[in-house]
Amino acid sequence: MKILAIETSCDETGVAILECSGDLERAEFKILGNALHSQASEQAAYGGVYPTLAKREHQKNLAPLCIRSLTDAGLYRARDDGEKVIPDTLTELRDPGFQVSVAELLSKMHAPAVDMIAVTRGPGLEPALWTGITFAEALGNAWNIPVLGIDHMEGHIVSALLKQVEGGSEKGEVNSQPSSFKLQAVHLPLLALLISGGHTELILMEEWFQYRAIGKTRDDAVGEAFDKVARLLDLTYPGGPEIARLAEKSRARGKNTVSFTPPMMNDATCDFSFSGLKTAVLYHLKKSDSLSEEDKQSVAEAFENAARDSLVAKTTKALRAEAPQTLVIAGGVAANTVIRNAFLNLIKTDFSDVQLCLPDKRLSGDNAIMIGAAAYLRKVSGIAVFQKLKAEGKLALNLT
Ligand code: KG4
Ligand code: ZN
Repeated sequence: MKILAIETSCDETGVAILECSGDLERAEFKILGNALHSQASEQAAYGGVYPTLAKREHQKNLAPLCIRSLTDAGLYRARDDGEKVIPDTLTELRDPGFQVSVAELLSKMHAPAVDMIAVTRGPGLEPALWTGITFAEALGNAWNIPVLGIDHMEGHIVSALLKQVEGGSEKGEVNSQPSSFKLQAVHLPLLALLISGGHTELILMEEWFQYRAIGKTRDDAVGEAFDKVARLLDLTYPGGPEIARLAEKSRARGKNTVSFTPPMMNDATCDFSFSGLKTAVLYHLKKSDSLSEEDKQSVAEAFENAARDSLVAKTTKALRAEAPQTLVIAGGVAANTVIRNAFLNLIKTDFSDVQLCLPDKRLSGDNAIMIGAAAYLRKVSGIAVFQKLKAEGKLALNLT
């Protein structure tokens, strides 16, 4: 089965083509095309993600990325009969420029040999989600291919369960193109710590695609805290990698006098909170008039340590309470080496019978591969529901 997958929930536009085979126990994914465009440099001027800009960028990039991905997959077949293809759902694309670009795309190619289109339906920025959904439905309508809506966070969970099987460059190299993945043998129940720019939550999956919320942030997401602290330190967006870079320099120096208390350590629940930590950083910075490079590095390290310790403490609590067989750490922040190492260490020392699944670093940030893989797993599980989609900015993992 070939899947064309689309991701536009935030500031990455992704179009991937996956060739999928096998059942839930032996699923394999050959990545035939993977066109991904990050808007980070455009968004950097705003210090975060600006929804209107995100929508405009997705509208501009979706058609070219789709052509690139299909071409890489060998599925692009040009047509030159001059016929104009207008999908029934064209008006749903709203923006006239977007309508033109989609109508042009559809008029210059034949329907590709794709069996299903998968698209992120939420959670995320609604204008950004709508762009991907209306694009997917226009293609599905014109090409007569079913469209399946996927929860972005489910995509992140699945991303951690994919293991590279062949080819490509070194596993984990961010710039190399992924090639083939297979689904790891997964033992349920599975506990997932989802850490991204919009989410920080602990979710238990006792049966495939049946979720129970164990804990969540009461205010900021951890990625959001990384981004906000980065802004306080005059670093560019996205802040996570920048903070990590500075923190590493501080660690190499080895004598940090700055420290912040990890949040929520004495709280009995598995909830998180990161806004107080961000405020603690702010107050610390207000104490001095000027900041040297070394001061910034010390603050970055202290912040990263506190965030890490809080994530580890709450996940430990959940591991004790729920005794899962598998622990997944996923979402953009799962790229963080210090956080990854802390969990590798925790599992090695205290939970050696739990299988830890971390995403390949090329799949930890937003991408369309994870959306296509989740769609395939839903399809082979017999629980894919094809319906008219709407963007659901606050979609919570289907907790039934
Ligand atoms: O999952 P993701 O790509 O987008 C959302 O769904 O939100 O996550 C983006 C978040 C941003 O807050 C970014 O700063 C953070 O992930 N991030 C990191 C690192 N790489 C990305 N945070 C800490 N360390 C990193 N290395
Ligand atoms: Zn994400």
